[in-house]
Amino acid sequence: MNAAASSQSWNAERYAANARFVSDLAGAVLEWLDPQPGERILDLGCGDGALTRRLVERGCVVIGVDASAAMVAAARELGLDARQLHGQSLPFSDMFEAVFSNAALHWMLPPEPVIEGVFRALRPGGRFVAEFGGQGNVAAIHRALVAALARRGLVVEPDTFFPGPAAYRSLLEAAGFEVERIELIPRPTPLPGSVGAWIETFCHTYTGAVSPEQRPALIEEVVASLRLALQQADGLWVADYVRLRFRAFKPPAPPLTSGWTPSTCGGGSAPSSSAPAPRPLSISGAIERAFRRPDRPWWLVRRERAWMIEG
Ligand SMILES: C[S@@+](CC[C@H](N)C(=O)[O-])C[C@H]1O[C@@H](n2cnc3c(N)ncnc32)[C@H](O)[C@@H]1O
Repeated sequence: MNAAASSQSWNAERYAANARFVSDLAGAVLEWLDPQPGERILDLGCGDGALTRRLVERGCVVIGVDASAAMVAAARELGLDARQLHGQSLPFSDMFEAVFSNAALHWMLPPEPVIEGVFRALRPGGRFVAEFGGQGNVAAIHRALVAALARRGLVVEPDTFFPGPAAYRSLLEAAGFEVERIELIPRPTPLPGSVGAWIETFCHTYTGAVSPEQRPALIEEVVASLRLALQQADGLWVADYVRLRFRAFKPPAPPLTSGWTPSTCGGGSAPSSSAPAPRPLSISGAIERAFRRPDRPWWLVRRERAWMIEG
């Protein structure tokens, strides 16, 4: 585990109290995932399992993985298959129709081994659908924390990264993914309480730079400096969230029949000239036949066929 990840400290009760909105606001990325009953799905950075459970309720076979023992324990209490693993060293190979992730990839540094592990974990044609913090995410909050620490003579390296669509597309493509959609979505997010509680839940690396005795004063100072930018007249705090959402595919395996002839397979006899000539197949018919695979879900076959036909 790298230094940034090791400084995280997740508390399942505090997360449930201050951050339930994280999973509650995942409707759009779940729509992009479009989970189908019977699909095997990996929920990467599953947290306390709120979304893992929703996938299971949709009839999917789901494994949740998370680096935090406390979060994994909370997910297991829901009866889920949750495992304590780091996104940077996923052990799965050719196993899932989809890898899903919500609000977690920005914690997994560096991103390259994470994306490579996801690619390995997917079956050919499988999809990687995720949403996480994108360029500009919670920038005002992070700036205020950095400034408050600087006033104490402290410099803290961020433990998150918030890429833009072009940068993350390059990372996905470098690993072999075909990116279907990737979008940066500003999403100002009302908080259930004060931004101070949000900072206590999510900003351990910054707040951990001072002693527990000094922490309340640090947080109070940051809250005061954010009031003008993030608190509405009615008292509601609205965090400056920006999300990056994408849907990418591992290319399908070449059809098993491709390139086959009796001679390349070392056997079979050439059709005799008196045998009836085979009926010519249309291009779409040939593709249809090549992709007729009882072991592949219908939606994947249809998508592969569409790709082939569209060129
Ligand atoms: C904000 S929570 C999101 C949880 C869940 N996906 C949801 O939508 O409620 C981020 C999760 O990412 C996990 N995480 C952070 N770094 C990780 C890593 N390197 N590998 C696996 N999980 C990680 C944290 O432990 C935490 O549970």
